Amino acid sequence: MVQRDNCILVIFGASGDLTRRKLVPALFSLYEKDLLPEKFAVLGVSRTKMTDASFRKTLAEGVEDAEAKPDPDDFRKFAKLLFYLSIDPGEARDYGKLSKRLKKLDESLKTGGNFIYYLSIAPSMYEVIVENLGTAGLQKEKKQDQAYKRIIVEKPFGYDLESGKALNKKLTKVFREPQIYRIDHYLGKETVQNLLVFRFSNGIFEPLWNRNFVDHVEITASETVGVGTRGRYYDSSGALRDMVQNHLLQILGIIAMEPPPSFDSFSVRNETVKVFQSLKPIAEDEVDQYVVRGQYTKSQINGQIIPGYREEEHVDPFSRTETFAAMKVFIENWRWGGVPFYIRTGKRLPTRVTEVVIHFKRTPHILFQHKKDEQAVPNQLIIRIQPDEGILLNFGMKRPGTGFHVEKVSMDFHYSDLGDTSLADAYERLLLDCIQGDPTLFARGDAVESCWRFVDPILNRWQNNPDETIYGYPAGTWGPRQATHLLTQPGLDWHYPCRNLVEDGLFCEL
Ligand code: BG6
Repeated sequence: MVQRDNCILVIFGASGDLTRRKLVPALFSLYEKDLLPEKFAVLGVSRTKMTDASFRKTLAEGVEDAEAKPDPDDFRKFAKLLFYLSIDPGEARDYGKLSKRLKKLDESLKTGGNFIYYLSIAPSMYEVIVENLGTAGLQKEKKQDQAYKRIIVEKPFGYDLESGKALNKKLTKVFREPQIYRIDHYLGKETVQNLLVFRFSNGIFEPLWNRNFVDHVEITASETVGVGTRGRYYDSSGALRDMVQNHLLQILGIIAMEPPPSFDSFSVRNETVKVFQSLKPIAEDEVDQYVVRGQYTKSQINGQIIPGYREEEHVDPFSRTETFAAMKVFIENWRWGGVPFYIRTGKRLPTRVTEVVIHFKRTPHILFQHKKDEQAVPNQLIIRIQPDEGILLNFGMKRPGTGFHVEKVSMDFHYSDLGDTSLADAYERLLLDCIQGDPTLFARGDAVESCWRFVDPILNRWQNNPDETIYGYPAGTWGPRQATHLLTQPGLDWHYPCRNLVEDGLFCEL
């Protein structure tokens, strides 16, 4: 087991939303579960003028907004671990102040000189902060005292392949790769980690997990929300950069990887990288064939007018940014050659669901045919990542009565059946892993670059051909109809999930 290490977590962008909404509530939850190291502190850093006391007060409000109300006494105790320093992270000369404050805190709290820097700030600041930390020598790990220095970087890791590479270059010029933790919060989701356990702790699924038995695979991440207040960021990003290049390809990596020789960060990440390297490239002139993009338009849902994407705040009224992307992907290796993986994500879809559906092949011969042309019921394994987390297996059974009529039934497992086990927030898991020095669930530099290499031609095609088709879809629907044309096998359609994990397949959200 990796040792828990005392440390100071330095958060750049401490006055920002992510710190308030996600990071501090996650740290507080770890504190309540007694999972933080014995000696631990947070040093918030940003330009906003604040004292330790006002910083603590702002964060208390963030924690109070969270679903589970904290015990005020517990939070007061936890808040004593929070400190604040106002500097301009873009100014090299301010790092002297940072260094001094860290030294003082480290000496008084006995955190052993271990520092983790969290970049919870605009990506345009990443490179300058890394450079400034390097110039101030704050990244140096001294052999004699074995103190560690780590850096956590939030997505986006670049804007395309070129900038992704440039960011990696800058990071690795100052920090060694093992010091770098690129956070993809999907990897922190309990149910994404369960994909690994499900695949590699059961003997019965793995023999079927290949081109001989799997017909196709779907990965869907649908959201009901629009872009909200994030129009400025989103309009220069789009669904492909925001969700596919990172979260969905990471899920694909876990679904498609080979069993690693052992469960350590090196072996596990080697296997996912091999998947990314095996993705069949989609050339710029093939984009129409493999990718469909869409943008939500104004509509009415339950009597409420929902604005179209172009009417959202900070969005260009002529924007051609995609809020929906669906694609057909192939993995060129012996396990998956010829098996299509259909990936789909979008905002303002009918329900919030992330799931993977493994569609197994039909039986080679149909014995029980009720009507002429009736097809055998193919087995489906639905792995629900959120919400109503669980797993459902569909199969055919005899309908009681005369004849041999086959009915599709299901076997299901819901995480909620495990009683009061609540699923930890992704940030909780990932922050703890970083503190413990375990990068297994963080994206490695080569993985990030391979994913950019795959999506780059698609982005280029759209950027270089501004008139390239983008389909509108009314908010609250499953995206443009053209997305179904990607599924070229006769009779095939996407799986349309409901909020609850049920044997569905119909549009059922009301
Ligand atoms: C973020 C994207 O990375 O993931 C958001 O920037 C998206 O646009 C979010 O809404 C989805 O995360 P989750 O955990 O709600 O599925």
